Amino acid sequence: MSTQDDLKRAVAQAAVRHVVPGRILGVGTGSTVDRFIDALAAAGVPLAGAVSSSERSAARLQAAGIAMLDLNEVDDIPVYIDGADEIDPAFCMIKGGGAALTREKVVAAVARSFVCIADASKRVEVLGRFPLPVEVIPMARAYVTRELARLGGQPRWRQGVVTDNGNHILDVYGLAITDPAGTEARINQIVGVVTNGLFAARRADVLLLGTAQGVQESFRVPR
Ligand code: 5RP
Repeated sequence: MSTQDDLKRAVAQAAVRHVVPGRILGVGTGSTVDRFIDALAAAGVPLAGAVSSSERSAARLQAAGIAMLDLNEVDDIPVYIDGADEIDPAFCMIKGGGAALTREKVVAAVARSFVCIADASKRVEVLGRFPLPVEVIPMARAYVTRELARLGGQPRWRQGVVTDNGNHILDVYGLAITDPAGTEARINQIVGVVTNGLFAARRADVLLLGTAQGVQESFRVPR
C-alpha cells in the first residue's frame, strides 16, 4: 500500500519531465517540493538557474548545486513547480501551509505554466476544509482578525511563525469557499493583508496527482 510519502515522491519524480532544460525554473515550497528538488538534482537536468519562493527551498536548491536567481533580474519563467494544501476541479488552490504563500504567488504570477504536484489527499470538491492562510503585517493582525471574522471565518494566529517577509500568518477556519476568485479578491481588500492563500486568479495549469493507481496528469486547458 502507498503511503502519503510514496505518493509525494512519485509526483516529485514525475515533475522532473516538466522542467525545461537550459531555462530558468520557478520552485515552490513544502515537503513535496523538497522531494522534487532531490529528484531534480538526481536527474542532473541543466538549468539557467532557479527562482525560489522561500529561503527553505533556496537552501535546498543551493545545496544541490543549482544557481539561485533574484526575481528582479528575471523576466521569463517557463515553468513553476509547487505543491498545494488543497486543489479543486477548476485547479484553484489553497496554499500557504508552509507560510510561503506571498513569494509563491509572486513567482507563480511571473511563470508561464504552473505545475501543481500533490498527493491525492489534496484533491477536494470545495476549498476550505484546510484553514486558509492569510499573511498580515504584524501591527494589523488584530484588525485583520476582526475583519476576517466578519466574513464568516474563524481566524487563528499561527503563533511563533514569522514569514520570510517578516510578517504573521492567520489561519482562517470554517470557510466553505464556493467562489474562490471572489473570496481571494475580497480578503485582499482588507487593509493590512499582504496576500491570502487562495490561488484562483492564478490557478494551476497542470496537475500531477499522486494516487494509489499511479500519477495522474491533467491539464486545465484541454490539449
Ligand atoms: C507552502 C505551500 C505548500 O505548497 C503546501 O503547504 C503543500 O505542502 P506539502 O507539499 O508539504 O504538503 O503552500 O507555503
